[in-house]
Amino acid sequence: MPVEAINQSANSSAKTTEAASCVASLCADGVSLAFGGQQVLKNIDLEVRSGQIAHLRGGNGSGKTTLLNILSGFLKPDSGQIKLVIDNQPIDVLSHAPATLARLGLARLWQDTRLFASMTVLENVLAASPRPLGISPVMSLLAYSRVQKQEREFKHQAMTLLDMLGMADRAESTGERLSGGQAKRVAIARMLQTGAEILLLDEPLAGLDKESAVRLVEDLNLLADDTRKAMLIVEHNHDAISPVCDISYTLENGFLRYEEHEGQ
Ligand SMILES: Nc1ncnc2c1ncn2[C@@H]1O[C@H](COP(=O)(O)OP(=O)(O)OP(=O)(O)O)[C@@H](O)[C@H]1O
Ligand SMILES: [Mg+2]
Repeated sequence: MPVEAINQSANSSAKTTEAASCVASLCADGVSLAFGGQQVLKNIDLEVRSGQIAHLRGGNGSGKTTLLNILSGFLKPDSGQIKLVIDNQPIDVLSHAPATLARLGLARLWQDTRLFASMTVLENVLAASPRPLGISPVMSLLAYSRVQKQEREFKHQAMTLLDMLGMADRAESTGERLSGGQAKRVAIARMLQTGAEILLLDEPLAGLDKESAVRLVEDLNLLADDTRKAMLIVEHNHDAISPVCDISYTLENGFLRYEEHEGQ
């Protein structure tokens, strides 16, 4: 476990300066949301950058999924701003539909896995491939070999991801025949297949046994190091996730507390 330098000055500390080398980041500034009379999020500031793993924690019903919904454009806050930066280009999250944000490089793993039940594991992952040329009838006719080459590359990448997640031998199984833990791993492979730079994961370890959870955390850590992806991970399994996190955010009574982990 890293030594935690705990900074309890909620919100203000999250406004760190973007490193010059940072190519992607997601930043919330003063986000608040109430459901009816229930103030779920109160003036939240948060930032996650390329190569960082941030842990978002908090009790059941504290607002973690709600915050992910806002960060990924599925829910509008009552106030505040969300800025996505991809390749040093700023994008106003609240002005774009979730599908557009996904295409730009913001991917989401849902708390429930949402696989296509009748499709195979491999097809589920392939469905997330970015900018497939084959959906254009014109490209399929005029550039068939290019389309085929891209499809081979997508398939190779999908199988590599499934292998990494211990699911390569289930590539031809249909989604409906998977256990909860297996479906979770396929959903993670599908999220990675998008090639997104910012990954928002809602309880990726839920349903995994202890060994699988440790392995998946190691893989996510390698991925963040090797590919400089930014990850914001909601997870109740603190013991498994904490060792690889650079920073933690804790939601409590609507406020967000920020902690930095040294030595990551
Ligand atoms: N669409 C909604 N309408 C009304 N209330 C909602 C809505 N979505 C969430 N809530 C409420 O907001 C609060 C936060 O819910 P949220 O799902 O974000 O919590 P969570 O931290 O993700 O919990 P868990 O750890 O159980 O997944 C809860 O009290 C929940 O009932
Ligand atoms: Mg939740």
